[in-house]
Amino acid sequence: MTGSDVRNLMLAAREQHLLVPAFNIAYPMIEAVVGALVQTDAFGLIEVARPDLEHFEAKSLGAVADEFRRCADEHHCALHLDHVPVVDEVGRRVDWAAMIQEGLDCGYHSVMLDGSRLPLEENLAATRQVVEMAVPYGAPVEAELGSVLGHEPGPLPPYEQLFASGLGFTSVAEATRFVRKTGVDWLSVAVGNVHGALVGAAAQQPKVQARLALDRVRELAQATEVPLVLHGGSGIPAEYLRAAAREGVVKLNVATELRRAYQQAGEITGSVAAAQEAVAQAVREMVTDKLGIAGSATRLRTS
Ligand code: 13P
Repeated sequence: MTGSDVRNLMLAAREQHLLVPAFNIAYPMIEAVVGALVQTDAFGLIEVARPDLEHFEAKSLGAVADEFRRCADEHHCALHLDHVPVVDEVGRRVDWAAMIQEGLDCGYHSVMLDGSRLPLEENLAATRQVVEMAVPYGAPVEAELGSVLGHEPGPLPPYEQLFASGLGFTSVAEATRFVRKTGVDWLSVAVGNVHGALVGAAAQQPKVQARLALDRVRELAQATEVPLVLHGGSGIPAEYLRAAAREGVVKLNVATELRRAYQQAGEITGSVAAAQEAVAQAVREMVTDKLGIAGSATRLRTS
């Protein structure tokens, strides 16, 4: 599997309105996720982001890539570098170019630069630079426009207020220009989706059930013509996810649901194997019942 194969698979998924879930690997759980994808014959991405390294047990980009190569099945998964921020969730500047380069050198099939906390022109320039860095590797690049809130410390604004006001939603006009000028492959959009909290009291409470502004999804998909990405996939009701897939969302990022499945089973049983089995069960249920993509790996390969 090459980066260019992944780019083509995502385009095929968009044609067939199939979601491609991207699971964050916060703990030793790659083998469990891959096993569940193989069992259900679904195609998904294994992804890792800075919070998985800083707050949880993902260790390093190299360690995740090694583990992926040890147990991955190339018909069912590829490896993605999630959220390399220019400015992170607590306002620190990040050496994003070094981290993107590390990911590409470690063999990640695709990478994401998150310049969404920058003014538009700076986001555009940094994203353009990453698209150029990725060319020799053939790796697709994801960028973000708009504000998918939830990772920042402190409480979110009340969800209904956020949704009704469209706070931080991706603008169609900006997205159209951004995609044209950067040449980015996939665009992460803010359309009512929020990230699950990473730390603090909110991380212990149930995640808000987000809704999606489906009209905005449709407009963004039609205007940009690239596969759209939804971050904050945990807890969004199935009917919204399936409708979003019909409108042009392809990649669905999921972290909180798997992290909590692992943590809760681990706390109850004290067993890593039981925690991993809880993760596998969560992936099987999501793929089969919620997203309805069992069999997508064969459908995408033969399309
Ligand atoms: P959730 O933790 O809300 O599933 O969001 C995951 C995500 O978007 C990772 O990039």
